[in-house]
Order: sequence, then structure tokens, then C-alpha cells
Amino acid sequence: MRLRNVKNAREILENSKYFIKDYKNYKGNFKKIFNNDNEIRIEIGMGKGTFITTLAKENPDINFIGIEKYESVLVRGIQKANEMDLPNLRMICCDAKELNEVFDHEISTIYLNFSDPWPKKRHSDRRLTSHIFLKVYDDIFECKKTIIQKTDNIILFAYSISSLSTYGYTLNKVSLDLHNEDIKNIKTEYEDKFSSQGYKINYLEATKD
Ligand SMILES: C[S@@+](CC[C@H](N)C(=O)[O-])C[C@H]1O[C@@H](n2cnc3c(N)ncnc32)[C@H](O)[C@@H]1O
Repeated sequence: MRLRNVKNAREILENSKYFIKDYKNYKGNFKKIFNNDNEIRIEIGMGKGTFITTLAKENPDINFIGIEKYESVLVRGIQKANEMDLPNLRMICCDAKELNEVFDHEISTIYLNFSDPWPKKRHSDRRLTSHIFLKVYDDIFECKKTIIQKTDNIILFAYSISSLSTYGYTLNKVSLDLHNEDIKNIKTEYEDKFSSQGYKINYLEATKD
């Protein structure tokens, strides 16, 4: 994701009530941050945050945490949230591969929106639905595990279906054209871009007990 650097990005992050800087201190206790017992859902690779801020606004009884690897990207989401009043939203800057050092069996749902496809076979372990990541997610899910993925990339999508099924997930919903289905949807930045270029959006919902 190409972005011009935001001036004072670090200062903006650290002054925002939405940014959790010392996230490792909350492992196993994230519900305390929200001061309620509601379920917690995360989006991995939240980018500029349109999806997660809208989802949080529309679902005040669910808690949401956006995960993004780069501060330079996360700051855009933080700026968006700063203009809203969303007590059920927080954001963390970290790599998904470390998520089992951040959460301890306290997440109900993971959203993967337009994740990097890593097209080369030798990089397939870096895909966020590879068994390497699914193993990390096992440690952060509460009990029932739900993964919801959207992507324009059919190769990543086919890979995810195979990887999730092999790992024991059940595919409850699969669509090769989300925008022509009766499925409630909030568009992400990438989704807007790809669908306006004529690409169909692939969608899946997978669960595991
Ligand atoms: C292609 S962008 C999609 C952004 C947004 N989800 C959307 O649909 O508009 C992928 C995002 O995932 C982030 N990302 C990639 N790998 C990640 C990882 N291992 N952990 C956390 N974030 C990651 C990237 O920095 C980037 O912001």
C-alpha cells in the first residue's frame, strides 16, 4: 500500500485513545480494555481502516481490534477513528505472525480483507491462510473459530479454501461474486478499487469448533 508519510505519525498514534501501544500487557485480558464482556473480532491487515471503523460503528455490541503491520498505514485508520466516537474499537501495530503473543483465546472472528497474495509458491507460507498462520490463530480463538475472507485474487482464494479445509475448517459460505449475493457487506479501500476496475470479489466464511 503506497502512502505519503503522515507528518508526526508517531505522535498521532500515541495521542489516540484508539491506539494500544503496550498491547502485550493485555494478553488474556482484552475485554478489560472495553469494560464489557462482548465478543472481540479482529481484522488483520486493516490498511487505512474504512472497513473496521464502519463495522464498529454499525455494531456497538461487538468489540473490534484492527491489526496492521505498518505504523505509516495504521496512522490513517487512527486518523479516521479519531473523528468518530467508537468505544468498541482499538488498533494495534504488529505482525500477524506474533498474534499468539498478543491474544490468549479471546477472539471470536478474524477478518482477512484483500490480504497480500504472495503469488510465488516458495512464499506460500506467508499467506495469512497458510497452516503456519492457522496454527497461530488456534491460540487466539476463544472456542468457536470463524474466519471471513474477501479477495480479488482467485489463486489466493483457491489456496485458502484448500488450506482451511485441510486444517479442519468448514466452509459455510463461498461466493465468487460477493457483490451479486445477498450477503451484507462493507467495502474496504482495496475492494472499492478492484471492483471499480471490473474485478469480481471472492468471499468465504469458514468455521471450526
Ligand atoms: C493489500 S492491503 C489491504 C488493506 C485493507 N484490508 C483493504 O482491503 O483495503 C494489505 C494490508 O495488510 C497489511 N499486512 C500485510 N501482512 C501483514 C501481516 N503479516 N500482519 C499485519 N498486517 C499485514 C499490509 O501492511 C497492508 O496494509
